[in-house]
Amino acid sequence: MKSLLKEFEALRARFPAGFESSLVLPCLRRIQEERGYVADGDIEELAAFLGVPAIQVEEVLSFYTQFRRRPVGRWHLQVCRNVSCSMRGAEGLVGHLERRLGVAPGATTPDGRFTLSTVECLGSCGTAPALMLNDRYVENLTPESVDALLQELD
Ligand code: FES
Repeated sequence: MKSLLKEFEALRARFPAGFESSLVLPCLRRIQEERGYVADGDIEELAAFLGVPAIQVEEVLSFYTQFRRRPVGRWHLQVCRNVSCSMRGAEGLVGHLERRLGVAPGATTPDGRFTLSTVECLGSCGTAPALMLNDRYVENLTPESVDALLQELD
């Protein structure tokens, strides 16, 4: 987080005094962009920097599923398994990915290339089933399109 302090100072200068808690979200986003995840130590450090209780940082982290608390593989596949996606085969797709990658949801392949996760609604119900590949949406999935997707990833 230390490499971001100058940037965080500039961000803080744009907010009126007393609104430090509004900086928790953008600061956490930058930490994750830099490292790929938010480490335990970042919570205390950010809380101290902003002068907010650590629980406030933890609340933001636990509310937004987009935040990662551990490193992920180069390709992070987040498969939605909420209602619309489930009704259109998400469970089968998760099983398909488990077999293809050899890992269960929540795990990373031993070579560090893929992390498989399941998530709640991605807001793409009209094109279910859907997943996110890092920051990109992939929709109307079938086992065949999942295979094609895996093939295009290095
Ligand atoms: S239920 Fe999967 S995107 Fe909404």
